[in-house]
Order: sequence, then structure tokens, then C-alpha cells
Amino acid sequence: MRTRSMGRPMDHLSHEILPRILPHVHSWVNLYGRNFLNWYGAEAQLVVTDVELIKEILYNKDGAYPKIDLEGHAKKLLGDGLSSTKGHKWTKLRKLANGVFHGESLKSMIPAMISSSETMLKRWKAYDGKEIEVFQEFRVLTSEVISKTAFGSSYLEGKKIFDMLMKLTLIVSRNAHKIRLPGISGFFKNDDDIESEKLEQGIKTCIVEIIQKRDQETSNNDSRKDFLGELLEASRDNDEEKRISLDDTVDECKTFYFAGHETTTSLLGWTVLLLAIHNDWQEKARDEVFKFCGETNPTPDSITRLKTMDMIVEESLRLYPPVPAIKRKVKRQVRLGEMTLPSNMELYISPLAVHHDPRIWGADVHRFKPDRFEGGIAKATNNTLAAFLPFGFGPRTCVGLNFALIEAKIALAMILQRFKFKLSPNYVHSPVQLFMVRPQHGVQIVLDAL
Ligand code: HEM
Repeated sequence: MRTRSMGRPMDHLSHEILPRILPHVHSWVNLYGRNFLNWYGAEAQLVVTDVELIKEILYNKDGAYPKIDLEGHAKKLLGDGLSSTKGHKWTKLRKLANGVFHGESLKSMIPAMISSSETMLKRWKAYDGKEIEVFQEFRVLTSEVISKTAFGSSYLEGKKIFDMLMKLTLIVSRNAHKIRLPGISGFFKNDDDIESEKLEQGIKTCIVEIIQKRDQETSNNDSRKDFLGELLEASRDNDEEKRISLDDTVDECKTFYFAGHETTTSLLGWTVLLLAIHNDWQEKARDEVFKFCGETNPTPDSITRLKTMDMIVEESLRLYPPVPAIKRKVKRQVRLGEMTLPSNMELYISPLAVHHDPRIWGADVHRFKPDRFEGGIAKATNNTLAAFLPFGFGPRTCVGLNFALIEAKIALAMILQRFKFKLSPNYVHSPVQLFMVRPQHGVQIVLDAL
């Protein structure tokens, strides 16, 4: 079903993308109800789209619904980093990441976000009156921002890692919907297995080089306080409980290089597409940027005042959530709503399905209407906060949420200060899921310098 639905572009520029990205969820919810059981190969998978149950699963704190164990190519991509690990190791890594991606530490990353956006926009000057493909531009921007802010390295240093991660992502996506048969896989290695092993090793070598370089640069007293600095400090901790190993450090770097840019690239790409077709909202957003930032670069204070921009970004995340599905498993037999779930069952929660549910959002669910967020998320969702979950929900909510939103708002504000833009007639509307929900052929816009 997925191959068929995503096999060709959409006929018109509609935001009704659930039947396209997750056609099985869309049609089976209609046939079997909000929650249904599905055999994923030999594994039972419960698809849950009922928001109250989603809240119960994702908010659970006693370990009844842990993350799934990554296998095969996906494990090579993310390792046992923060997004996949569990238990004591998760608590340790989460604390470390929370400290770096919040508060003052996050504020100190704003100048790097601004200078990377400036570099991008200097390139854009050559495209005045012309078409530019921005998805690739945002990929470079977000790669540079995470490289600089978290790892204190340049885009070029990180580029090799990103390129390999991208190749590995393609392998994961190619294999994601193949049915797993117990006992058979593992005996024979196909081309993807061999390639992904090579990529995993290559990524590790590059990251170890960055770690060693930093180790040599800094003595214990003047270590930099970015994410890599904190990881290295933790790797030297005398307290065994707090210490992390070299493998943990490598996996954590991989996780952040990956999670830190593909998702935000997708958010920026879709938001610019939406503003390119909704000129009224583009004008409103620009007026607001000039009101609070004038012609100067955004500041921590002016960024927080951009409320129209917040609404636009939220509506973009609702219609095109970069992460369309989240998985958990059942640790031990448990009661969920009216159901008794056996241990080891997989749970499949789709932010995309929830965001496109007319019962929650109304008959205009597929329309771009940022003003639905005017009174905040609680009002937009009728006090069902778990109905808006682009960053997940509960204790495992995205740790890079604020980082991503600040980065996106800075880039958008700086674009709006310099250019008007409209959609190019060459744009082809073909949303696909390649790990993230993304525009298959990029986003082409025509720039008009202010
Ligand atoms: C628009 C941008 C982003 C979106 C939509 C997004 C989405 C998500 C979602 C849905 C989850 C929860 C997954 C689950 O519950 O299984 C998550 C977790 C996570 N995200 Fe993001 N993310 C974004 C940006 C970022 C950035 C910029 C970083 C890093 C700087 C990041 C790092 C992580 C990590 C490490 C986790 C795992 C947290 C944990 O399990 O404790 N994300 N993200």
C-alpha cells in the first residue's frame, strides 16, 4: 500500500497526507476502529490512535511501556544512544543532555545559529528573482548548526558523518517495512547488511577522530562546555555510576548528529512551502519580525515575542510532523483502557494520524490554519494536550525541542527580513517518508529580495 501511495506525486497541493504516508493506518482505522491489532510479520503490533490511551502509554513512568529494542540497520544508525537506551543509562544520558540543551547553555548557542543562517542567506543573494531549492539548503544549515553548537566542529568536519548517516538512513528506510521472520534473518548477509556494517564502522572512526582531537586540544581545566565537552567530562568521571564508556560517547554523538538535523530540516522545508503558498501568513510573519527585531538579528528576547511565528511553526508541525510514528513495547501483561495486552507486544503510535484526525481538529483538519493555535496548544486541542505530539509526549519527549524551535525561528525570521518568496511552478508535491516526512523532490521557491 505504501509503495503504491507514495509511488507518484500528489495530484494537487493538498495537505491530506495520512492516506499517502501511512495508507495502512488510514484505511484500517476506518475499517477496524481507533485501535487495532496488526500482524507485523510474526509480531503482534497494536496501532493506537486514541489520544487518551496514547497519553497513558507515553506518560507511563513505571517502565510498563519501554522503547523497543533496535535491531539490524536501525541499531547501526542510532546505537544505544539517548533516543533508544533505557533504565539507568537513559537517566544518566538524559540528565547530561538536558543540561546542555536548556536554559543559559541553549542561549549561548544562539550566536552560532545566527551566523550559520547568515552564511546561508549570503548564498541566497545570488538567487534574487530566481528559483532556489531550499530543502538541501536547510540540510546544510542544520548540519552546520549542530556541528558547531554541540560538537564545536565545522560543517566540513561533520559532513563526512552526515553523508554516511544519510546512506545508512536510506538502508534503514529501504528495509523498514520488510517483514521480519524469526530465525531466518542473520544467517545470510545481503548487500545492505555489508554496506551498513561498513558505514557503522566509518561513522565510528570519524567520531573517534573528533573525540581524540578535542581530547588533545583541551586539558581538564579548560574543557569546552558544549555537548561533546560534557560527554568527555562524563567519560572521565571518577564515579563509576556517572561514567560513560567510549562506545556510549560514540553512540550519543551519532544520535545527536542524526536527530539534530534531519528533523529540523524537515520542519523548515515544510514551513517555507506553507508560507510560499499562503502569502497572507508570510506577510503577517514578516510584519511581526520587523516589529520585534527590526532589521537587526534576532535576540533571545525578540525570538520569544514572535507569537505568529510560533503559531505557523505549530501548524506546520501538525500538518507535516517530521516523525510520523513512535513505537513502544509492552514490558509485562498490562491493562490499557478496555484491553489486556500481553508482554512483548509492539505499540505503534502515529503523531501524523492524530494530527489529521477530524474528530480532534474539526472539519478543516487538512487546511493550513495557524490561528487555531492562537489561544495556545491546550485550547487548540480542547485540553487534550497529547493530541499535538510532534516532539512526542511524556518523559521521553524530544530533548532537542527548544533547540529545534529556536533554530527554526531564527532561520525563518532572518529569511523573512531579507526576502519575499513564492512557490516555483517547478515544485512537485510529493511528501514521502524516508525516516522523516519530507518533500521527495525538495522545495523550490522563487526569491524576491526586499
Ligand atoms: C523539528 C525538530 C524535531 C522533531 C519533530 C523531533 C521529534 C522527536 C520525537 C517525536 C521524539 C520522541 C520519540 C519517542 O518518543 O520515541 C524525539 C526524541 C528525541 N529527540 Fe527530537 N525532534 C526534533 C529535533 C531534535 C533535535 C534538534 C535534537 C538534538 C539536538 C533532538 C534529539 C532528540 C533525542 C536525543 C531524543 C530522545 C530523547 C529521549 O528518549 O530521552 N531532536 N524527537
